[in-house]
Amino acid sequence: MPKIQVLDHPLIQHKLTYIRDINTGTKEFRELVDEVATLMAYEITRDLPLTEKEIETPIGKGTSDVLAGKKLGIIPILRAGLGMVEGILNLIPAAKVGHVGLYRDPETFEPVEYYVKLPKDVSERDLILVDPMLATGGSAIEAVNSLKKRGAKSIRFMCLIAAPEGVKAMTDAHPDVDIYIAALDEKLDENGYIVPGLGDAGDRLFGTK
Ligand code: URA
Repeated sequence: MPKIQVLDHPLIQHKLTYIRDINTGTKEFRELVDEVATLMAYEITRDLPLTEKEIETPIGKGTSDVLAGKKLGIIPILRAGLGMVEGILNLIPAAKVGHVGLYRDPETFEPVEYYVKLPKDVSERDLILVDPMLATGGSAIEAVNSLKKRGAKSIRFMCLIAAPEGVKAMTDAHPDVDIYIAALDEKLDENGYIVPGLGDAGDRLFGTK
C-alpha cells in the first residue's frame, strides 16, 4: 500500500490558506508556493539515509552524521510543477532536475507526453515528482508512466492540494508511489477543478489569466 501523507504542519496550512485566497496576486502566490515546497521537502526527506563522518571540532575529535549521498531527482510536471522546484532545491541543491511535459488530447481528453528530459541515471535516483494539483490524477499517472518507461524505480509524488478522486486513481494505477499532500480537499467540480482548491495553479503562478 502506498503511503498517503497529509503534511498538516501549521506553517504549511497557514501559507496554503493565502495561496488559496483569490485576492493573493501572482508575486505573492509564487513566493508562497516556493515556501510551502521547501517546508514539504523538509518533511518528505525525513527518511534520507545518513552516514557517520569523523570530525574535529574546536574542542576535540568525534563523529557526526552527514547525508549518505543518495542521489535525488526533482521532476516537475510542466508547467505548474515548475513553481515548486526552487523551493525544494533550497534544501537539496545537489538534486538533478528532470522535466515531464504533458498535454490533454482534445478528443480523448487523455494526457499525452510531449516533452521528457531526465537525468541519465534516472534508474538510480529517488525521484520526487511534483505538481501543485492532484485533480483527476490523469497527468500524475501518465507522468509516472513516462518515468517508469525510462527506468525510474523509486518515485514519490508531492502536491499542494489533492482531490479524493485523484488520490484514488493514482494509488490504483501506481501503488508503489507514495503521495505527500499539503491538503486533501473535498471533491472535483464538473470542470475537473478541485473544490475549494486554489483555481488554476499554472495561471496563478505565471499570471496568465
Ligand atoms: N489543475 C489546477 O490547476 N487546478 C485544479 O483545481 C485542478 C487541476
